Amino acid sequence: MIPETMKAVVLTVPTNAQNVQLTEYPVPRVRPGWVLVKVKAFGMNHSEKILRLSEINADDIEKPIIPGIECAGEIADESDSSFQKGQKVVALMGGMGRSFHGSYAQYALLPTHHVFSVSTDLNWQEIAAVPETYFTAWGSLFECLNLQPEDTLLIRGATCALGYAAIQIAKAWGCKVIATTHRERKLPLLKEADRAIVDTGILAGKVKGATKALELVGAKTLYDTLNCMEKGAIVCNTGVLGGVYRWNGFDPIKSIPNGVYLTGFYSNWPTQERIDEIFNFLTVHKKKPCLGKCFDFSCIDKACEALDSGMINGKIVVTVSK
Ligand SMILES: NC(=O)c1ccc[n+]([C@@H]2O[C@H](COP(=O)([O-])OP(=O)(O)OC[C@H]3O[C@@H](n4cnc5c(N)ncnc54)[C@H](OP(=O)(O)O)[C@@H]3O)[C@@H](O)[C@H]2O)c1
Repeated sequence: MIPETMKAVVLTVPTNAQNVQLTEYPVPRVRPGWVLVKVKAFGMNHSEKILRLSEINADDIEKPIIPGIECAGEIADESDSSFQKGQKVVALMGGMGRSFHGSYAQYALLPTHHVFSVSTDLNWQEIAAVPETYFTAWGSLFECLNLQPEDTLLIRGATCALGYAAIQIAKAWGCKVIATTHRERKLPLLKEADRAIVDTGILAGKVKGATKALELVGAKTLYDTLNCMEKGAIVCNTGVLGGVYRWNGFDPIKSIPNGVYLTGFYSNWPTQERIDEIFNFLTVHKKKPCLGKCFDFSCIDKACEALDSGMINGKIVVTVSK
């Protein structure tokens, strides 16, 4: 039985983590082209922090809004889709938690084309740690960087959920991986990489032979990353950990070294094919996502505080129902 109301985080104004609370909210009614998902768990993302603290004021954000750009759960009402009630699914992006209600809730009404079936033995917390992180890592590495086993991959800002996923995938693919952290004491966290180095802001001269780079620190270090690379190398800017969101002073002629290629990845368009590839990869290689910290939904304020602190290494996951 689907209840009339559910617990959800409902935001209308910028909200600090400690003020985030669960409220009673109507369970959305299904309509054609949308399915109702019973949320089991969801992973947390940097973009949700930005939305909650400031971006919520933007005109293109629906208000009130239930945040959350991804989730794992079961189909509660399949509507006019080919899903079966009870089917295990994940959902991500496409406006989730921004232009329509997202995953910080017991139920989420989601567009069918952004809901994907999953076949896996991972538990709900582990499944919830996969969609956004692995889809982004996978797309950055294969769609954008055309990663090949003979590549030497530089991952800049690797002590994040995305960095761990990228190391895991690239090592399984046969690549050599050089991973960076800006904190010396975090070097042991990068033990899966072939080489871990401390990022002082200048890597040029310290990194040799990198043919591909996944830039997770972002515009703050992008120029330096481009200047670390071999001729013919590709750099994919995917992250913004450095807190600089625009590349001010970008000069298309001088900022990109001759013979180095620059691309970027945006995770807005997941497909069933990619989600299948990712879960298949995890099964075949017997890998699990790196969980940083797990919270119960009743402690959503603490989960948001952990996200805002930027001190959790690995994915923050919130369990909504057992
Ligand atoms: N392009 C896309 O579509 C897309 C999709 C998903 C995520 N992203 C972006 O990718 C990045 C990683 O995402 P995530 O979810 O994996 O992040 P996350 O796990 O929340 O990252 C948190 C970790 O990042 C590290 N960090 C923070 N500031 C840093 C800095 N200035 N330099 C280096 N490391 C820093 C911290 O580790 P320390 O303890 O080492 O400081 C922190 O524990 C984010 O910027 C996110 O917005 C982009």
